[in-house]
Amino acid sequence: MFNIETEGLTKRFGSVTAVDHLTFKVGEGEILGLLGPNGAGKTTTVRMLACLISPSKGSARVGGYDIAEESMKVRGVVGILTENPSLYERLTVYENMDFFAEAYGLSDVQERRDRFRDLLDFFQLWDRRNDKVGKFSKGMKQKLAIARTLVHKPPVLLLDEPTAGLDPESANGIRNLIANLSQRENHTVLLCTHHLEDAERLCNRVMIINRGSYVVAGTPEELQDRIAGKPTLQVKLKRLDQSIVRAVKDIEQVREVSADDVAGSLLITVDDLVGSTPEIVRKIVHAGGMVLAVNTLRPSLEEAYLKLVREESS
Ligand SMILES: Nc1ncnc2c1ncn2[C@@H]1O[C@H](COP(=O)(O)OP(=O)(O)OP(=O)(O)O)[C@@H](O)[C@H]1O
Ligand SMILES: [Mg+2]
Repeated sequence: MFNIETEGLTKRFGSVTAVDHLTFKVGEGEILGLLGPNGAGKTTTVRMLACLISPSKGSARVGGYDIAEESMKVRGVVGILTENPSLYERLTVYENMDFFAEAYGLSDVQERRDRFRDLLDFFQLWDRRNDKVGKFSKGMKQKLAIARTLVHKPPVLLLDEPTAGLDPESANGIRNLIANLSQRENHTVLLCTHHLEDAERLCNRVMIINRGSYVVAGTPEELQDRIAGKPTLQVKLKRLDQSIVRAVKDIEQVREVSADDVAGSLLITVDDLVGSTPEIVRKIVHAGGMVLAVNTLRPSLEEAYLKLVREESS
């Protein structure tokens, strides 16, 4: 099973508890986004899972192997992109890849060549393979850093802020590459990020941590719903009449109605969106309303994130 499972994972640095009894799972083929403010413990978690540092307490299995007992095996199944990946600036793209392949004991020359060709093609770096890395832009370096983490075909990827410090276009490029990659190779991914676009675009689920501890986890939509309170239905009408507002207020499932005269729409709070929407629309039409559009309003993941982290900190 190429999944990740932790149980009470804890790391202390002197008096600082960087990661505090963290228990979570990332299913095989799943992409879990790990979010949290600076110093929340994201990098420390990733470093423990990659066996770069050992936990003070608790345990974890990565790809089925125990990080404390079977660290060599864990290293074999994990590809890690560290927070500030260092490349050999005086070496070419190809030489950098070679250096990494060597470190992972990929001795078959033909296999190495095929893998490099495949990866460098995928990351649009094949034409630049003989260029020294020192001259590259940050975005290109980041592509190479990700390509290199994949040389040994690791089924589990730990990506620590893959889009940090990139301009919006390059960040989007990296995001698309990760999305395509996970479709192509079905990796299990733990992705630390401060870019909520990463989480929305790439992750099946996100987990927020703060001060080393678990705050909340769920799909991006679930987190949005969680802070939104009751769902809100926005019904855009050709003309907004008080009689329509009254008709809506009379519906049993409706909790609150407000009229947005400028936008020409009604904002309706209900308990159960799916269950009551057809009835609401029917009543509006019955009262003479001409419905132009019906939307569900959700807060952005960013709003959800800020609210959840603030609540937790207070
Ligand atoms: N090697 C270390 N020695 C001492 N303290 C450390 C060490 N590494 C991390 N810490 C502390 O552990 C806590 C968690 O740090 P960590 O780097 O894991 O956070 P993070 O969530 O990755 O933050 P960021 O978003 O800024 O990257 C911080 O308080 C940090 O100062
Ligand atoms: Mg970090």
